[in-house]
Amino acid sequence: MHNIQDILETRDFIMNKTDDRPVIGLILGSGLGTLADEIKNPVKIPYSEIPHFAKSEAIGHANELVIGELNGKIVAAMKGRFHYYEGFTLDEVTFPVRVMKALGIENVIITNACGAVNTSFSPGDLMIITDHINLVGTNPLMGPNNDELGTRFPDLSQVYNKELRNIATTVASEQNIPLQHGVYAWWSGPAYETPAEIRMIRTLGADAVGMSTVPEAIVATHGNMKVLGISCLTNMACGILDQPLNHDEVIEVASKVKTKFVGLIKGVLEKI
Ligand code: HPA
Repeated sequence: MHNIQDILETRDFIMNKTDDRPVIGLILGSGLGTLADEIKNPVKIPYSEIPHFAKSEAIGHANELVIGELNGKIVAAMKGRFHYYEGFTLDEVTFPVRVMKALGIENVIITNACGAVNTSFSPGDLMIITDHINLVGTNPLMGPNNDELGTRFPDLSQVYNKELRNIATTVASEQNIPLQHGVYAWWSGPAYETPAEIRMIRTLGADAVGMSTVPEAIVATHGNMKVLGISCLTNMACGILDQPLNHDEVIEVASKVKTKFVGLIKGVLEKI
C-alpha cells in the first residue's frame, strides 16, 4: 500500500522532469492514446522510470506519462493505464490519480473503450458517463484510510461532475458530435461478459460495461477532484448481436472515432 511519502516522491520526480505544471489530468483508454500525440512540447516519461508506479512487462512500450500543452491548457496525460485484470492491486491502478492530485490537478478526464449494453446505442458512439455501478465487489479505498488524502466514507452522489458534463454536452453540440449519456458498469474482466450477464447488467440499470475507470473515479472523488468520464462504445455488448467479441475490433473502432474524440476533449479543455 502506498503512503503519502511515496506520492510526494513521485510528484517531485515528475516536477523535476518539466517546468510545466499540469492543471488537468487525462487517462486515455484503449485505442484512445493518440490524443497524447497532439500535446505540444511534450515531456514523455515511461511508467517504468516513474518511482512507485507499478512495474510490468505486460503493459508494453507505449505506456507513458505525457506532460505539455493541449489547446492552451497544461495537461498530464496517461497514455495507457493499469488495469485490475492485469493483476495489479487497486492501489497500483489508482496511484497515478493520487500523484495527479499532488501535482495540483483538480480536474481529471477519464476515458475508456467499453461495450454498449443499451441497445439504442451504436458502436463508435461516445458516451458521457453520468454515474457508475461497481460490480467487481471490491473498492480502491479498502484498507486503512489516510485522512490527509480524503474522508473515510466519501459521498459518491456526484462522481461525474455535472458542470463538466454540461461543458462536454455543449462542446459536442457545437461540433455536431452525437453524444450518448449513461451509466457505466465496471466488470473486472479480462474475459468479456456472457449474454446472461449482459441481460443482468441491463436490468441493473447500466448502459455500458467496461473493465476500467471506476477505481480511478472513486479515488479522484476521495481526493476531492472533479471527474469527467467519457466512454467510446466500441461494440454491442455480448449477446446483443449474433457475433463473438474480440479485442482487435475494440481497438479498431476506438481508433476510428479518433477525430470526434480529440475534437471533444480539446473543446472541453478550452472551456474548463
Ligand atoms: N465488455 C467489457 N469491456 C469492454 C467491452 C465489452 O463489451 N468492449 C470494450 N471493453
